[in-house]
Amino acid sequence: MENNKIAEHVKKQSNYSCDVLIIGGGSAGLRAAIEAHDAGARVLIISKSTKGDPHTVLARGGINAALGTMDPEDNWMVHAADTLREGVFLADYERVEMLCKNAPGAVNELVNWGARFHREKDGRLTQRFFGAHTYRRTVFYGDWTGNEIIRVLMDQIQQRKIEIIDNVYITKLLKSNNANDVNEEVPTGEGEVIGALGINIEKKEILLFECKSLILATGGYTRVYSVSSSRIFENYGEGVALAYEAGADLVDMEMVQFHPTGMVWPEKALGTLATEAIRGEGGLLLNSKGERFMKNYYPERMELGPRDIVARANYNEIVDGRGTEHGGVWLDVTHLTKDKILDRLPTMFEQFKNIAGIDISKEKMEIGPTAHYSMGGVVADIKCRTKIRGLFAVGEVISQIYGANRLGGNSLLDTIVFGKIVGSEAARVANKAGNRGKTRGPSSSPRLNVNSQKGYEDYGIFIIKEPIRFLKEIQELMNQNAGIIRDETKLQHGLKRILELKGEFYSKDNFSKDFRINDDGNSENVVLTWEVKASLVVCEAIIRSALMRQESRGAHYRSDFPNLHDEKWNVNIYCRNEDREMVLLTQNVKEIKGPLADLLKTHIKPEHQREFE
Ligand code: FUM
Repeated sequence: MENNKIAEHVKKQSNYSCDVLIIGGGSAGLRAAIEAHDAGARVLIISKSTKGDPHTVLARGGINAALGTMDPEDNWMVHAADTLREGVFLADYERVEMLCKNAPGAVNELVNWGARFHREKDGRLTQRFFGAHTYRRTVFYGDWTGNEIIRVLMDQIQQRKIEIIDNVYITKLLKSNNANDVNEEVPTGEGEVIGALGINIEKKEILLFECKSLILATGGYTRVYSVSSSRIFENYGEGVALAYEAGADLVDMEMVQFHPTGMVWPEKALGTLATEAIRGEGGLLLNSKGERFMKNYYPERMELGPRDIVARANYNEIVDGRGTEHGGVWLDVTHLTKDKILDRLPTMFEQFKNIAGIDISKEKMEIGPTAHYSMGGVVADIKCRTKIRGLFAVGEVISQIYGANRLGGNSLLDTIVFGKIVGSEAARVANKAGNRGKTRGPSSSPRLNVNSQKGYEDYGIFIIKEPIRFLKEIQELMNQNAGIIRDETKLQHGLKRILELKGEFYSKDNFSKDFRINDDGNSENVVLTWEVKASLVVCEAIIRSALMRQESRGAHYRSDFPNLHDEKWNVNIYCRNEDREMVLLTQNVKEIKGPLADLLKTHIKPEHQREFE
C-alpha cells in the first residue's frame, strides 16, 4: 500500500498513560490490579476478551489450598510435595513453596470477598479430590469455580473503580534502551518497558499506552493445537511471543499438559473440557468393552492418577482399538444420584445436555485428551520480574511453577497468589520510576509514526493473506507431530513445516494490501495475523525443546525415549531470541533444600494415599 494512503485507513489513535499497565483481564490480571491499586499505583487493565469473560471463566473444578477441612493431616508441605512430584521435579521448588504456603490465605481472602464456595452442613468449606493429590484439597463452587472467582474479583475491581478497556489487542511492547537506573535491582541488559501498542477491535482505533511497569497476564499457548480446551479466540501464546520479541527468555516450552477428558462429540465441541471434578466426584473411565482400564495403567489411584498418565491411558485405549464410535473413551457417572450430579457438577450436566443432547445421570460421556495447559512460558523470577526492566509476567504466561506437569486446581491458585505478589512489585517499581508517564497527559503523548507500511509492521499491526489457513495448518500439524506422544521423526517433520510456514508468513507477497482499521475495516484480521505470528514462535519453541529433551518426563512423552533420564535431563531448556534466531540453552534444575527436601524423602507414596470416598 502506498504510504500516503495508509493514514486514510486508520480511524483514530488514542493515547493513555498509567503507572501499572496490565495486559489480561483474567484472574491473574485482576488480582494484580487490586494489589497494585492498593499500593497507590494508577492502574489500567486492557483485555482482549470482553470484560468479565476471560479464559478463567472456563476453569471448572476448583482451587487448591491445604486447609485441612476434610483431611486435617494436610498441610502446605504435603501440597508442595504433591506439586513437585506431579511436575517430576522440574519446577523451581521455591516458587512451589511460595504457592502452597500462601494458598490458605489466598482462598480465605476470596471467601472474605464473597466467594460462595461449597460448604459442608456444619459450615466447613468442602474440599474434594483431584488427581494425584494426597488429600482432599480442592475448594469449589459447583463446577464453575473460575467463573465465581472472576465474579468476586470484578466486584473488587469495580469497588476500586479500576479502569478496564476490553476488546483491545496488543501487538507490541514498547521499550526504551536507557533503563532507568532507579530500578537498580532489575537487570538492565534488555532495556526497559515503557508501554505497549495495540488496536481496539471494536472501536477500530490504534491505542498507545505509556506506563512505568507492565504486567503480562495473557494466558498460555494450548490453542496452537487443534484439539484444545481453550476457546477459538484465546491462548495462542501472544504474551509469550510479545515478551520473546522484546528480549525475554522462554523455558520448559515442550511441557504442554493434555487433560484426559475433553469432549469428542459432537464435532463442534471437540476438546471442550469435561472437568476433572467428574472423576473427583467418582466418575469412572471405561473402554468400549466396558473395562475400567485404569487398573492396567495406575491401579493405585485409578481415575485419579496424575493427569499425564490418565491422558496417555485414554489415548492408548483409543489408538489400540478399544475406543468409542467417535474416537473417545467413556466417562461414566450414571452410578451417582442425580441430586449429587446437580449439586457438584451442574455445568457439566448442562453442557452435555445442551451440546451433546445427553443426560449424564443416565448416559455415559464420550471423552478424549485435549490440550489444556502450558507449563512452559516466559522466564520470570519469584517476584514475577522478567529480565527486562519494568516487564512482569504472571499466570499461565510464565513457567517454572509446575515443571513437567500441573496438578488440577493449582492454576487458579497461582493466579491469585502470584497475582498479589506481582501487583505489589509492579507498583513498587512504578513508584521508583519517578515521573515518567505521569506528567504527560494523553493529549501531549506522542503520535506514532504509522504513516508508512514499515511503521505498521514494526508495531505488529499488519495483515497477511489467509491467516485462518495458516492457523488451521499449524494446529493440525501440532496435534499430529508434537502432541501427546512424540518421536524424533514426527518432531523433525513438524519443525520443518513450521519453519517453512514462518518463511511464508514473512514473505513480501504474503502481506495483504487490504489493510483497514476504520469503520468498514478488517481489524479482526490484524488479530488473526498476530495469532499466527505468536503461534509460529510458540510452536518453534515447543518442537525445538521437545526434540532436545531425549527422555520422557511428565507431559512430555517420547516413544523413542520412553524413560526418565535424570542424570542427563534434570535440566530446564531455555529458548533465547538472538538476532531473531531461536537458540536453546540448558540449566540444571535448582536443588531442593530445607524441610521440603526431607519430606520428599519420606513423602507417602500414592499407594498409601487415602482411599477415594
Ligand atoms: O478439570 C478441571 O476442572 C481443570 C482444572 C485445572 O486444570 O486446574
